[in-house]
Amino acid sequence: MHKDLQRILLDESEIRAAIERVAGEVTAEFEGRAFTVVSVLKGSILFVADLIRHIPIQLELAFVGASSYRESTVSGELSIEMLPADGEIEGREILLIDDILDTGRTLSRLSEELHRRGAASVKTCVFLDKPSRRAVAMQADWRCFEVEDEFVVGYGLDYAGRYRNLPFVAVLKPQLLLADGVETAPGLGGRGAR
Ligand code: XMP
Repeated sequence: MHKDLQRILLDESEIRAAIERVAGEVTAEFEGRAFTVVSVLKGSILFVADLIRHIPIQLELAFVGASSYRESTVSGELSIEMLPADGEIEGREILLIDDILDTGRTLSRLSEELHRRGAASVKTCVFLDKPSRRAVAMQADWRCFEVEDEFVVGYGLDYAGRYRNLPFVAVLKPQLLLADGVETAPGLGGRGAR
């Protein structure tokens, strides 16, 4: 697996430090309030698992699944495949967590849907933020790192379903990305149908 990587962008100790910082801020925000962490599958699971271990206050955990289908360079519709039960959302304060904020479509669409289903509030937290790629107005309330516009893998992020289990974030060797670029490859550069 490591032979496919061009360089490590964020190592384990940098990741740990950022998680501790964000977890501290989230704890201060939600202290004394009942809230639910909603993890966006599959990419956010490593981040969520590490983050919540550093949030020493009561919380509940739920999951949401979303896929986008892209044709060429045009971002497709986001389809929400799995939502928490209404009882897990209605009247609850939600902390929606994703691996990376890219165009912003996923988080803005999911926030909208959670509000529509009666969430009392929706805050957002992402592991990585790629502001240069934003297509809709969306800012995360918390983020661990801002990254440049390059395709990254590891710590939950995948390329064609692989590399999620790397404990750090890396840039793949460019020759591994398809000739027409990740943007134009179905399932890459976007959430994909997986
Ligand atoms: P939005 O809706 O913000 O979607 O465009 C964010 C989703 O896009 C995927 N994504 C990436 N996945 N490396 C990845 O492994 C990347 O560099 C990357 N950029 C975007 C990812 O599925 C994320 O949840």
